[in-house]
Amino acid sequence: MEIPTRLVLAPMAGVSVQAFRRQGRRFGAGLVCSEMVSCAGIEHRNERTLGYLRVASDEHPLAIQIFGHEPRAMAEAAQLVVAAGADLVDINFGCPVRKVTKTGAGATLLEDPDRACRIVEAVASAVDVPVSVKMRRGLRDGSRACLDVGPRLVAAGAASLTLHPRSAEQMYTGTADHALTAELVSLVDVPVVASGDITSRKQACAILERTGAAAVMVGRGVQGNPWVLAEILGEATEEPSREEVVAELVLFLRETVRELGERRAHGFLKKFYGWYLGRGRFPRPFKQELVQLETTGEVERRLIAAAPGALPLIEELEAELPVGDSVLLELPVSIYGGG
Ligand SMILES: Cc1cc2nc3c(=O)[nH]c(=O)nc-3n(C[C@H](O)[C@H](O)[C@H](O)COP(=O)(O)O)c2cc1C
Repeated sequence: MEIPTRLVLAPMAGVSVQAFRRQGRRFGAGLVCSEMVSCAGIEHRNERTLGYLRVASDEHPLAIQIFGHEPRAMAEAAQLVVAAGADLVDINFGCPVRKVTKTGAGATLLEDPDRACRIVEAVASAVDVPVSVKMRRGLRDGSRACLDVGPRLVAAGAASLTLHPRSAEQMYTGTADHALTAELVSLVDVPVVASGDITSRKQACAILERTGAAAVMVGRGVQGNPWVLAEILGEATEEPSREEVVAELVLFLRETVRELGERRAHGFLKKFYGWYLGRGRFPRPFKQELVQLETTGEVERRLIAAAPGALPLIEELEAELPVGDSVLLELPVSIYGGG
């Protein structure tokens, strides 16, 4: 599998909707990833879970990430996500959230390496696309479990590893210790992706050099700021204009409404207003005003009123979207209506 740049867009639950992934590809991410999708949800054909498996033709290469703790169910889930259009199946051994870890999934598996290996083996033998694993350093602060588990996961069939070198206990506090990433690189002969605290070209280059990683993954830095992807690739240095910011936000809003339906999108989008309009781009009260509006249509009108020059840019962006989108799975009809 060929990934065109050494820059990967991080999977983020509650963020990595289709619009986010397509935008990430457009700004230069070589690989984009769905948010983690529950293997139990897939097994029970939960409608909202299946909605995460909606794949567009301009997202590839695309990884779909699954989480669970049961090898057979994970293998079946992997087959379904490949049928949905995933070019790569990513397995989540990093999620620190209690709701996930208490089921024996996510970061917990770093302390149960035998089971983790059985999951990777089952998934890798069930699909004919590459299988990768994303993990944290371990459960507890100071843990080095990733260095023990990582090589075993490769032996079990992982074609690539992504390391976010914080412990699960740390959540997002402290800093990512990329000395561990360098150690992991020296222990395995598959590509390692470095994730954590990368928000600029300078940091990205330093981490690639220091660790020998094959690529960097960027998450929080891209929230409301897809321009950082171009900056990391050395393709842009200037801050976007207000018109560009509004154009990207309006397109994002429209696409998210198409994907989730007005009711879900309305609440989902609120956090994005602050992310896009902050960074000194618009005065703070403007965001407050947007989050209080009742429909996304009103938000769109208010945004365009604040930067009318965005309109032609929005038209250009809309015109670039693929026609007759490819959704490969036979999913319940209500999903397409934003169910
Ligand atoms: C809101 C949010 C949701 C996340 N969801 C996931 C997820 O679903 N799967 C996963 O493997 N990592 C998830 N992560 C972790 C990120 O992929 C990434 O490893 C981490 O944020 C560190 O990178 P950053 O400093 O560039 O944000 C999430 C992070 C955030 C902030």
